[in-house]
Amino acid sequence: MNTILELNQITKTYKMGDLDFQALKGVSLEIEAGEMVALMGPSGSGKTTLMQVIGLLDRATTGNYKLRGREVASLSENDRAEARNSDIGFVFQAFHLLSRQSILENVEVPLMYAGYNAKDRRDRAMTMLEKVGLGDKWRNLPSQISGGQKQRVAVARALTLEPAILLADEPTGNLDTRTSIEIMALFQELNEEGATVIIVTHENDIGDHCKRIVRLRDGLLESDRQNPNPHRARA
Ligand SMILES: Nc1ncnc2c1ncn2[C@@H]1O[C@H](COP(=O)(O)OP(=O)(O)OP(=O)(O)O)[C@@H](O)[C@H]1O
Ligand SMILES: [Mg+2]
Repeated sequence: MNTILELNQITKTYKMGDLDFQALKGVSLEIEAGEMVALMGPSGSGKTTLMQVIGLLDRATTGNYKLRGREVASLSENDRAEARNSDIGFVFQAFHLLSRQSILENVEVPLMYAGYNAKDRRDRAMTMLEKVGLGDKWRNLPSQISGGQKQRVAVARALTLEPAILLADEPTGNLDTRTSIEIMALFQELNEEGATVIIVTHENDIGDHCKRIVRLRDGLLESDRQNPNPHRARA
């Protein structure tokens, strides 16, 4: 067993003036390298909050978080940003592509921040685009490709720095059923190649494609079960 992340009694309180709201009330969770986990639960149950803590986009209020064996809850902003860049790839519901940049340039963005030179960026971004089946679209703008293709671009971009963990928050929320299944096929393929994948979803169909299903309710873990027969998605 190779534990990739370990949350211990994580709480998160949002401060709003005089009012506090506790969105996470003590969540403990261990995830092994190579798992494919669905994080489910009703609207407002804390899924995005937990994802942001896991992805080092936000800090827990209390609790411990070990990422690849290292305590990260108390790191400085800079060290957190570094850990985030090297260990985590993000995919969001709304794609978040730069509309005036080509598909290829969008995939190059993390490589640019990481200081790769122009040629290495290009080569690496092309390899990732080919991996997600979009090698022929590299010149297009985001407005010239479909929603499912946009999400593939976002996945390619998330993978450029070979993160240990791929985090996706409602990655199929803006896609029709058929396209959602294609994206799940891509995640399954990446998982088979060794990526640890965590997907937030409130669609049971999407959860059924994952090997493990964790449910949140009102800021607490409600259930955590293995799914011995994940649905196979075919692209
Ligand atoms: N920045 C914030 N300030 C105050 N309260 C917040 C903030 N972000 C989230 N919350 C509250 O925390 C709770 C959990 O929110 P969260 O976004 O994690 O839910 P979710 O499970 O992702 O829901 P959904 O399925 O609708 O995306 C909600 O009650 C929400 O209103
Ligand atoms: Mg959410």
